[in-house]
Amino acid sequence: MGSKNKLKRFKENATFKNVIQPAREEVGQNMFPLKGQWKDFFGNDNPIVVELGCGKGEYTVGLARQNPQKNFIGIDIKGARFWRGAKTALEENLPNVAFLRTQIELIDQLFEENEVSEIWITFPDPQIKYKRTKHRLTNHGFLERYRYVLKKDGVIHLKTDSEFMHGYTLGLLHGLGLEVRYANHDVYKNEGSPREVLEIQTFYERQYLEKGKPITYIQFKVS
Ligand SMILES: C[S@@+](CC[C@H](N)C(=O)[O-])C[C@H]1O[C@@H](n2cnc3c(N)ncnc32)[C@H](O)[C@@H]1O
Repeated sequence: MGSKNKLKRFKENATFKNVIQPAREEVGQNMFPLKGQWKDFFGNDNPIVVELGCGKGEYTVGLARQNPQKNFIGIDIKGARFWRGAKTALEENLPNVAFLRTQIELIDQLFEENEVSEIWITFPDPQIKYKRTKHRLTNHGFLERYRYVLKKDGVIHLKTDSEFMHGYTLGLLHGLGLEVRYANHDVYKNEGSPREVLEIQTFYERQYLEKGKPITYIQFKVS
């Protein structure tokens, strides 16, 4: 995408009422005003579902269409990407969608303990190199942060093309004695995945499907 187009999207994001772009310091110093107060933003106390590394926000918007009784928040550091989802949500008058431009590492400063009902992690960079382990979105440190923000019965969904990420996450969950509610290593071949796993496809996912890669899915709990 050209830099002119990006600039245009950044400008539009600033005018979108469903886009929140907090300063890093504000969040980092635990001064983010919506932490524990998301009900004020949405005007209701409905369950909150968060998509991490949402890209264009296909899951945030797709799930919001299917579940008007829940609120959906897509998080990504790249505003020019989620501009697409934010614009679609505005065009479709979806009141239950928000996009948050910030770092996933700050999740426990964006949400209060027990404030989130579900987390979706969609096609994250698997960070295969050992030195990159700390950036892998299902490493132990991230799971601890997810445990903090999730309700006790909260669920995490991981959809990825990466066999490495799929296996790594299953192994870690097993080692930690955490509950795997469902796992499928080729969702379009092996029946049984929840309908939203099959019905909603992301930008990255479509590219992997064109290359004939199997798509995997895990649904698990961290407490
Ligand atoms: C491989 S893309 C997948 C995007 C989308 N989920 C999809 O399937 O099309 C990973 C996304 O995660 C975002 N991301 C990666 N690490 C992040 C971090 N630490 N904080 C916020 N966003 C991050 C990137 O900006 C990118 O949009």
